[in-house]
This record gives sequence, C-alpha cells and structure tokens, in this order.
Amino acid sequence: MSQPASGLKYGRKVMIAPSILSADPLAVGDSIRALGGEDDWIHVDVMDGHFVPNLSYGPMMVTALRNAFPDKFLDVHLMVEPAEDFIDMFAAAGPDILTVQVEAARHVHRVLGAVRSAGLRPGVCIDPGTPMCMIEPVLHMVDLVLVMTINPGFGGQKLLPETLYKIESLVRAREVRSLDFLIEADGGVSPETAGDLALSGCDVLVAGSAVFGAADPASAVRALRAGADVKRRA
Ligand code: DX5
Ligand code: ZN
Repeated sequence: MSQPASGLKYGRKVMIAPSILSADPLAVGDSIRALGGEDDWIHVDVMDGHFVPNLSYGPMMVTALRNAFPDKFLDVHLMVEPAEDFIDMFAAAGPDILTVQVEAARHVHRVLGAVRSAGLRPGVCIDPGTPMCMIEPVLHMVDLVLVMTINPGFGGQKLLPETLYKIESLVRAREVRSLDFLIEADGGVSPETAGDLALSGCDVLVAGSAVFGAADPASAVRALRAGADVKRRA
C-alpha cells in the first residue's frame, strides 16, 4: 500500500482519537492532560441542534484547544448544516482536519475544496443510513473518511454492526482507486468493538465514553489500542 501524500499514515497500528464530548465540560483541559499523551488525535464534535438534536461547541472551543495544546492533532467533526456556512470560522480556529457530513453539504465538492483552500485537511463523514455512493464522487478529495457507526448527536450509544461493511468497502475503494485517505470510525467504540473495527480496516477509532467515562482515561486508551491490535489485519 502506498502512503498518503497528505503526510498522514495508515498502517497496521490503529490510532485512537478520544472525543472530548464525553469529558467534563468544565474541565476539558484537565481531561486532555489526563490522557497522559496516550492519545493520537483529539476529536472535537461540533453540533448545531439542527443537523443533530444536540448542541456542543463553536469555533472558540477549537481556538482555545489549539492555544492550550499547540502540538495536539485536532480532528474536528462538524455536525452542522449547511456545512458551507461554517468552514471559514472553523478553519480560522486552526484544526488539523475539518470533516463535514455529506448529508449537510449542499455542494460537497465546493465545501471540501474550501477546506483544502484554507490550508486544512478535508474529511467527509457518512451517517449509518446514507448509502456509500453519496461519498464515492469525492473520495479523491479527502484525507479522511469518517464512518458514523451510530447516528450522530450523542455519546454512549451502541455501535450499529451493519456499518462495518462501509469500512470494508472503503478499504477496497481506496485500493482500487489508488487513493490515500484514512478511515475513521465514530460511535460505540469500546475495547470489545475495537477489534472488529480494526479488522474491517479502520485506521482511527474515535472514543468518547469509553475514554472519558473511565476512571483512568490513559489506561482506557491503552485498552482500546490493545483491543484493536488483537485483530488488526497483518
Ligand atoms: C456523536 C459523536 C461521537 C461521540 C462518540 O455524534 O460524533 O464522536 O463522541 O461517543 P461514544 O464513543 O461514547 O460513542
Ligand atoms: Zn464525532
């Protein structure tokens, strides 16, 4: 397999992206420090109360994280509609990846192009009920495909196993088309589900409640990594 031109690497090791949605909102910085550097990326869920039935953060949160943790890889997942209205404000906040939901972008090529033009890595996200063909036209434009393994809006839900076929299809599409995006799964990730997700071909696992709901977030990340490594394809 070739490595991504973007500089992001996929390989046998699965990366873990703790989602601060499940962290104590009054102590997000402390929660990130409690990871003890075990995290690969920090996942930030932006919700608008419109595309999803929940509200979370605005760009000020991303700016604050960037200032407090200049070396962290910030993986920002926009669940906002219309996505095009929010690109500039989030790009200015300095994330590393800015991912939009395909269902929330009226003109998805334009939105992803705007993210790239802003100097960021674009990602596209697909909901469990959205067919794969919706993202096929833009796979060559993205550095990341985020596969929702739950319906977005809340942490602590159970993974929908029927979403795993999308991960497998993406692995095939990436090979057939000689592309280089990373594949990330989001929702219901636990030490128990991490193995199957890794086996299906995930490069990055997002985990909220499994990390920040644990007494020791650093060892929770290690447990996820161990769960993923058990079944990771050789
Ligand atoms: C849900 C978010 C997820 C959420 C996952 O809409 O996109 O990132 O934090 O939470 P868990 O890991 O608890 O399922
Ligand atoms: Zn997310």
